[in-house]
Amino acid sequence: MATINVQSPNIRYTEESIEADYEYENARCVKDDKTNNIKVYPMKSVITFRTMRKVPRTGLMLVGWGGNNGTTVTGAIIANRHQMQFRNKEGTVKANYFGSITQSSTVMLGNDPNGKEVYVPMKDVVPMVNPNDFVLDGWDISGLNLADAMERAKVFDINLQEQLRPHMESLKPRKAVYNPDFIAANQSERADNVVSIQDKWAQVEQIRADIRDFKKKNQLDTIIVLWTANTERFSEVIPGIHDTADNLIAAIKRNESELAPSALYAVASILEKSTYINGSPQNTFVPGLIELAERNQVFISGDDFKSGQTKFKSVLVDFLVSAGIKPCSIVSYNHLGNNDGYNLMAPKQFRSKEISKSNVVDDMVNSNQILYGQGKSHPDHTVVIKYVPYVGDSKRAMDEYISELMMGGRNTIVVHNTCEDSLLASPIILDLAILAELCQRVTFRVHNSNVETNFQPFNTILSLLAYLCKAPLVERGANVVNALFKQRSCIENILRAFIALPPNNNLDLYFKCSDRNEWYEELKQPILKSKNLEQSIAPPFNGVMSGH
Ligand SMILES: NC(=O)c1ccc[n+]([C@@H]2O[C@H](COP(=O)([O-])OP(=O)(O)OC[C@H]3O[C@@H](n4cnc5c(N)ncnc54)[C@H](O)[C@@H]3O)[C@@H](O)[C@H]2O)c1
Repeated sequence: MATINVQSPNIRYTEESIEADYEYENARCVKDDKTNNIKVYPMKSVITFRTMRKVPRTGLMLVGWGGNNGTTVTGAIIANRHQMQFRNKEGTVKANYFGSITQSSTVMLGNDPNGKEVYVPMKDVVPMVNPNDFVLDGWDISGLNLADAMERAKVFDINLQEQLRPHMESLKPRKAVYNPDFIAANQSERADNVVSIQDKWAQVEQIRADIRDFKKKNQLDTIIVLWTANTERFSEVIPGIHDTADNLIAAIKRNESELAPSALYAVASILEKSTYINGSPQNTFVPGLIELAERNQVFISGDDFKSGQTKFKSVLVDFLVSAGIKPCSIVSYNHLGNNDGYNLMAPKQFRSKEISKSNVVDDMVNSNQILYGQGKSHPDHTVVIKYVPYVGDSKRAMDEYISELMMGGRNTIVVHNTCEDSLLASPIILDLAILAELCQRVTFRVHNSNVETNFQPFNTILSLLAYLCKAPLVERGANVVNALFKQRSCIENILRAFIALPPNNNLDLYFKCSDRNEWYEELKQPILKSKNLEQSIAPPFNGVMSGH
């Protein structure tokens, strides 16, 4: 573990917190559509971030705990906690968290005196929960204990399963709220562990009681609830039911039929002040639910883990469009043979997935009007998913990208990806919970000489987690960003902001100087000038947007 100590008057370390004064710079543009003249105003805000240092004892409750992701994430935590090693045909494998951005990726902190880059694990930038310390619990409509459910999932090598079995046999999912109308009919085969209560508000009360019971028994400081259960069909959004928080609660109490189990879990979590994360594509976050989360100041985040094909797409299309090459046809086939694929055979559940996968290139396409005009054209984009039981969790994704090159040229890229789906999704589950917990400990104050400001938490909708989501939910009015490296740099740079470091700009100007000697002198004497916070705010902007 790296220990980082930022030497600056703009950071204050106390036993309780890290307080960092940060200059946030961007630019506002005002475009005259008639003349195509764009006036650009560089803007600056000063913000103090406060990160509480004590990492709480954190519980993670999974809806769908007995599924492939639920058992895989549980097994991975236990294997890492006990530093297990196991043999497969390649040799010995040590437990690790590959695929987790917080645990297995690094952040560039700065340059050493010779100008070389210094990297640290992302998890060391500010205090974060160690995934080994998560206390786990959850619900599943299938009552298999976690060891048997792990065997059913067929994800881990057998030698690892044998080591994990004694640790997982005693883990049993809580009885779940089940509504066969929302997931595929074929799932009823495994539904032997469901609450017998039919009244929907009583079901919410039962989930709330489960959360409280888990918290009390394990003396937890905080609990994060995450949906990794089957993909539900989209819920019809009905005025009077889903539109406001009050209507939603009243509709549950009236036992309205168009209320998905995921909505009931989310309402229960919010009322218990537990962050709720949606790892599947369905539209759990209807307007009434968002309002309820806002009212209770609870974080929500989603939708749908961005694990394989879509993650790759959000890199490749970004690369093509930003290179000035025009993707015109994107066709994505998948086949998989796990229970997720079995559920997605049903047209309504597949439709949820199709919607979630379909908008992923929009922000990249919209960023380049040279290629696509003013929103007039869009690449053809088709997604097909087939269930092939034999391949189990080892999902196949085949993609064809056809792009236009200069002078009518065609560029066809074909990608074939084979991998265990749940080994991609499980580290994402960990990152979602780790980063959400961190956000619960961060508040910030926007300095403004015109008004008194206080420390505030992040917006209820945690778009910071967009990197991990296929169809990111964003704050009202915010831009939806799918491009993967923009999403990643948002996480990296906000972590840097928490310790008063500027965003990574990748300019490396020192090396670009023809005379490095002068530059090097400056590096040796870092500027340690305290900022006068209130005075450094940008003046009101044109009467339209005042100093944001
Ligand atoms: N790479 C990935 O694995 C990946 C990527 C993106 C999204 N997802 C989504 O994550 C979810 C889980 O994937 P999985 O492979 O673990 O699927 P899975 O089918 O193996 O697991 C889902 C579990 O949810 C349980 N379940 C269903 N309804 C429930 C309810 N109302 N309450 C409690 N439990 C319930 C099922 O019994 C099952 O054990 C799916 O919706 C999938 O689309 C997975």
